[in-house]
Amino acid sequence: MRSASVPIYFDYNATTPLDPVVREAMLPFLGANWGNPSSVHAVGRTARAALDDARYRLSSLWRCKPSEVVFTGGGTESNNLAILGTARRLRARGRHLVCSAVEHPAVLHAFRFLKENEGFDVTELPVDSAGRVSISGVEGALRSDTTLVSVMAANNEVGTLHPVADIGRLCRERGVIFHTDAVQAFGKLPFRDIHQFEADLVSVCAHKFHGPKGAGALFIRSPLQPLSTQIGGGHENERRAGTENLAAIAGLVSAFERCVITPAFDAATLLPLTQRLAAAAAGIPGVTVRSSSADSDRLSNTVAFSVQGTDGIALMATLDLEGVCASSGSACSAGSLEPSHVLAAMGVPAAEANALVRFSLGRDSTRDEVDRVVALLPRLISRLRG
Ligand SMILES: Cc1ncc(COP(=O)(O)O)c(C=O)c1O
Repeated sequence: MRSASVPIYFDYNATTPLDPVVREAMLPFLGANWGNPSSVHAVGRTARAALDDARYRLSSLWRCKPSEVVFTGGGTESNNLAILGTARRLRARGRHLVCSAVEHPAVLHAFRFLKENEGFDVTELPVDSAGRVSISGVEGALRSDTTLVSVMAANNEVGTLHPVADIGRLCRERGVIFHTDAVQAFGKLPFRDIHQFEADLVSVCAHKFHGPKGAGALFIRSPLQPLSTQIGGGHENERRAGTENLAAIAGLVSAFERCVITPAFDAATLLPLTQRLAAAAAGIPGVTVRSSSADSDRLSNTVAFSVQGTDGIALMATLDLEGVCASSGSACSAGSLEPSHVLAAMGVPAAEANALVRFSLGRDSTRDEVDRVVALLPRLISRLRG
């Protein structure tokens, strides 16, 4: 049993601790192997060999060509490159873009940027009360000038899974590029290969599966060549300028091998824990569970609920005082009183969309921690309302 002073960490969708084996894999590049992979001399060539090896290993796991892997500085950058780069590359073909209304800001705001500043027309797809887009919704939005569709694999706030493979097949039939932000899916859903998403572009972010922060990757199906969003040298095959961060890349690949191939988030362990949290929350008057009630439609580690008569900031602060780390939506909007755009798109009234609690569990979460939170919640919520 944990001591009371050790926080209960139920915020694994925000980030995860670095796996010790992953850390070991990174250390050579913070020490002896410090070269620049673009240098032609011996020190540079040693670094280049490590970079090539990392790309080769990741492409073998993904079952794609090494040239289809681009290393980036994280999930935000992968999403930006996929969306801005593809829309701009295909601009002569069409200016209509489609995304879901519940995307992470790294996707949603990239589309809005293109609309507000570069003359693109963007359709934001509605979702149902569980936060899910429908295939018919995507189909109805496609136009002759649509070039790009983006729908996330799993939502970070409520954990809803989207039918991305079906959407991907539809897009391919219609000659439209499909991107998925799969950042929350890796390590949580079974992984076969990168083609399981049926997407032309797939975003990956290492710190969501026990890798380092600031490390990401983008799968780009050849021959698509998004315009680089960073201007500079010809790194990553002209797709991402800037000297490669070898320690981060080594960490990403090691974490993928360790925590995605066999998912670090074990559904058989986590589902009963989140079910228990959901049932306890649902039993409190004025609390509504917003994660899908169908377990197969949500991430097994995530449960989100809204609380009438209080707000997200007060809920987070009080949970924190009690030693519970949770989130009121995406970490980026923590500290702001903005209602969750995800709950708003799900049709939740603003007062409740402003009072979201997300518990996201991980590999070190225990039944004892869940029991303690279950015992705490009714008292904590009634105190806040009082
Ligand atoms: C679904 C999703 N996409 C993208 C990101 C952005 O990742 P990062 O902030 O590491 O760039 C996150 C992080 O919360 C996320 O949950």
